[in-house]
Amino acid sequence: MKNFDSAVTYASYLKVNELLSLQSPRSSGPEHDEMLFIVVHQTYELWFKCVLHELARAQQLLELGDTHSSLPVLGRVRTIFKVLVSQVDILETMTPLQFNSFRDRLEAASGFQSVQFRELEAVLGRRDKSMVDHLEPNSEPQQRVQSAMNRPALFDSVISYLTKRGHKMPVAVTARDFSEQYEANEEVQESLANTYRNDPEAAMMLERLIDIDEGLQEWRYRHVKMVERTIGMKHGTGGSSGAAYLASTLFKPTFPDLWAVRSRF
Ligand code: HEM
Repeated sequence: MKNFDSAVTYASYLKVNELLSLQSPRSSGPEHDEMLFIVVHQTYELWFKCVLHELARAQQLLELGDTHSSLPVLGRVRTIFKVLVSQVDILETMTPLQFNSFRDRLEAASGFQSVQFRELEAVLGRRDKSMVDHLEPNSEPQQRVQSAMNRPALFDSVISYLTKRGHKMPVAVTARDFSEQYEANEEVQESLANTYRNDPEAAMMLERLIDIDEGLQEWRYRHVKMVERTIGMKHGTGGSSGAAYLASTLFKPTFPDLWAVRSRF
């Protein structure tokens, strides 16, 4: 039904006009492919926002011990990761020459500066303080990432969920300093093995987590290949060695215990 007088419309609810005014190619042409480059990056940022929103909810639910509500939330995050990985295909339709037509205009801008990506890494457990040092001192983004690094990460919430279900966890882990990097722990692995054997509901939860871990690793792999095919072995606009630096981030699990436990069965 057409109702143009309605207080809320599609455009007003979604702020479509504002959204569509946010793509500002820097090239004077503008170079045709810069629009795609901007839209793809903006889309990633929107999905990062959504993932952070979902993970905050997942942590709350896990800490309450609520299996039935947290499983679909983690399943949603896994599905968003699949979209994040497949979106790389779109940007890969841009050739090195097309990218080079506007690359200089990016100056020192780089995905390296994505605050939401650093926050996501922190929520997933990364505690690399040098990542905070790359952000403007005392800025709101820096504080956001720092605060994510200080509070319990997703795996800490999982530990608390499992403890509530009667799975024994070492005190060194339950009472750990959340601002420090979590290290793989054999006692935790023992407990996870028992969970897989005796607690199918919690085991489903663990499978969603490994999906998310694999999803992030897949994204990193697709990103480094996209970088390699687009700029070869040139340095990044963010000042790193480019594909060589990105390759050093590959195959690092988010939840190391969940991978280690697989060799026990
Ligand atoms: C043609 C496309 C792309 C190229 C050539 C490219 C290039 C690079 C390079 C060289 C780096 C290393 C840091 C630097 O020195 O700049 C980097 C990091 C990064 N890029 Fe991209 N990128 C592309 C697309 C994307 C897209 C679509 C995203 C989505 C958000 C993204 C997100 C990131 C993130 C989050 C990092 C930091 C990774 C880390 O430190 O582990 N990039 N990119």
